[in-house]
Amino acid sequence: MIKATVKDERLLTHKTECLILFSIEEKNPSGKLAELDTKLKGIIKSLFKNKRFEGKLNQTLLLNVAKPIQADHLLLVGLGKGIEITADKLRQAAGTAAKYAEKSGLETISFHVPADDAGKAIYAGLVKSDENFVQTVVEGGLLSLHHFDDYKQPAKEKTSRIKQIFLLANLKSQVVSMRSAVSRGQKLVSAVTASRDLISQPSNTATPSYLADKAREFAKSFGMTCKVLTTNDMKRLGMGALLGVAKGSEEPPAFIILEHHGGTKDDPPIVIIGKGITFDTGGISLKPPPNMDEMKMDMSGGSITIGTLTAAASLKIPLNVIGIIPASENMPSGTAIKPGDILTSMSGKTIEVLNTDAEGRLVLADALTYAARYNPKAVIDLATLTGAVIVALGHQAAAVLGNNDALIAHLQQCGEVTGERLWPLPIWPEHEKAVKSDIADLKNIASPGVGAGTITAGAFLKAFVEDYPWCHLDIAGTSWSGEEKPYTPKGASGFGVRLLIRFLEQEAKKTSLQKNDK
Ligand code: BES
Ligand code: ZN
Ligand code: ZN
Repeated sequence: MIKATVKDERLLTHKTECLILFSIEEKNPSGKLAELDTKLKGIIKSLFKNKRFEGKLNQTLLLNVAKPIQADHLLLVGLGKGIEITADKLRQAAGTAAKYAEKSGLETISFHVPADDAGKAIYAGLVKSDENFVQTVVEGGLLSLHHFDDYKQPAKEKTSRIKQIFLLANLKSQVVSMRSAVSRGQKLVSAVTASRDLISQPSNTATPSYLADKAREFAKSFGMTCKVLTTNDMKRLGMGALLGVAKGSEEPPAFIILEHHGGTKDDPPIVIIGKGITFDTGGISLKPPPNMDEMKMDMSGGSITIGTLTAAASLKIPLNVIGIIPASENMPSGTAIKPGDILTSMSGKTIEVLNTDAEGRLVLADALTYAARYNPKAVIDLATLTGAVIVALGHQAAAVLGNNDALIAHLQQCGEVTGERLWPLPIWPEHEKAVKSDIADLKNIASPGVGAGTITAGAFLKAFVEDYPWCHLDIAGTSWSGEEKPYTPKGASGFGVRLLIRFLEQEAKKTSLQKNDK
């Protein structure tokens, strides 16, 4: 990962290839931009006047500049109208600028950080959400520059890459707090990019055992504990739903448990569960060939869980957090489960498998049962569970369902700030009824005609949720993107890590308040 460094140097004297300045949408340049403009004999003002640059969100303008400014280029990037600026717009603008500089063949970029008083208009939306300017810029900049190139031969393709990022302090007094914000931003980015890389790995590399090895590796580096249950352990626990899915594959399944002990010993933990299907062929209910390759991302929830736990540990969040990843392939074979087969889950409930492609809910069922042994404060599962969520919400938001309105609302609020939107869907008694089987306790798909595919999947999960607050995030539409976005490349997005970390940090604050009350 590229390193971002704070420079205690001023705008006019700092030597760099590219000086990046944020601008709000306005008629004339103001603040630092206006100061710079006088040095540049009115060039910037005339660009605003000719509407070559107006500060619209993610608008960019690259200028060659000369003395007295020490930078080779000036890159302006728009934030949109002052009153509408949010943390995510700043993150986008930072990403757009960094990416633009990279595509222009530049290698060193420097972001100007306004002092609190000079940057009021920019800060307004951030103040509201309690987000830090520098951290947000680091997130946007570094996330936009992440590439997955494990399989590219380095010599053959000439690629221009940003090698250094500086953040310029406007005042000496900003430096210390800027350094800690940069460090926080880097830790988050490193967790998100680790998740993205796991998701991008093809399934012939990223098997359940590979995920388990990676989890062990991260546990060792960040001081977490990691336990991996094998097929025999799962048999002993009666995890018939997970084992049913795994039965069709030559690759053994893995039930991965990561633990971050940041709270006191008997603090009930927050459990995060991530679907870990390392490839989803559909099984005997085989998927059609077009785009089946994308089903290597069906372990996105698991990868996000690993990334979140890693960030929680590296940021030393004072909470106990458990990550659970039920990992398996979903394959068609002579040993695979067949439509109509009945499985007995760890909870004791039996499941009629009417479609082997609805496998995610099967592996999650046993994980939800297992989670109860932690007596958790809350359980959040993340899964690329249904194509139906793409019909409902497209790629703009993940669906959130659950049994606790406060938990749903809190997660949704966190997503607004981090730019990882969640949109609630209900689970009504009719939906719960729709997954009851005639001959077993449950069936893994609702009868034809019921519709509401994302909700009935949620209703199925709810049957395995015990007496704890629970939320399910269906990330099938947000985990993978067919197009490049300001700070997200094509492919794996890493959706969920920053959202969950914000959630955990706020929970930690609440917990410490409660402790102070006692
Ligand atoms: N992994 C898929 C869901 C999915 C679809 C993820 C598109 C990412 C993009 C899941 O296991 C699945 O196949 N779901 C079925 C459920 C159906 C059989 C009830 C679906 O959505 O078609
Ligand atoms: Zn499936
Ligand atoms: Zn799946």
